[in-house]
Amino acid sequence: MKAHLSRRYLFSASHRLHSDGMSDAENRDTYGKCNNPFGHGHNYVLEVTVSGRVDEKTGMVCNLADLDAFIEKEVLTRYDHENLNCLRDFAHHVPTTENLCMRIYEIVKRGFGLAHLDKVRLEETMMNSFEYAGAAEPQR
Ligand code: NI
Repeated sequence: MKAHLSRRYLFSASHRLHSDGMSDAENRDTYGKCNNPFGHGHNYVLEVTVSGRVDEKTGMVCNLADLDAFIEKEVLTRYDHENLNCLRDFAHHVPTTENLCMRIYEIVKRGFGLAHLDKVRLEETMMNSFEYAGAAEPQR
């Protein structure tokens, strides 16, 4: 029997949307006020969904404490109260919430082995959120 487990985490970070591949004018046209040179911050809500067989002995998909410890160490410590533009993760990628969501997915997919990662959802504001569930499986 397979079940899904979703867990929410909070962190705050700042960013400036600016692409080195575009002129200053193009950047302003593309990102608007999010291109403000001094950046701005968000209180992100991260939701991680994993799934797996419900273990007969424990009755759980995976131990929440293990997921919490992993997310704390590998995600929250890395991003909380950081300026995303200054991190190596975004040296070559604009720190949009789409890219941040995909980056967090990669970290969890690669590092958390105790359950299958289904998706990462990232709320940037009350009004918008992004989801990433990995690249589509190649067609056979
Ligand atoms: Ni923003």
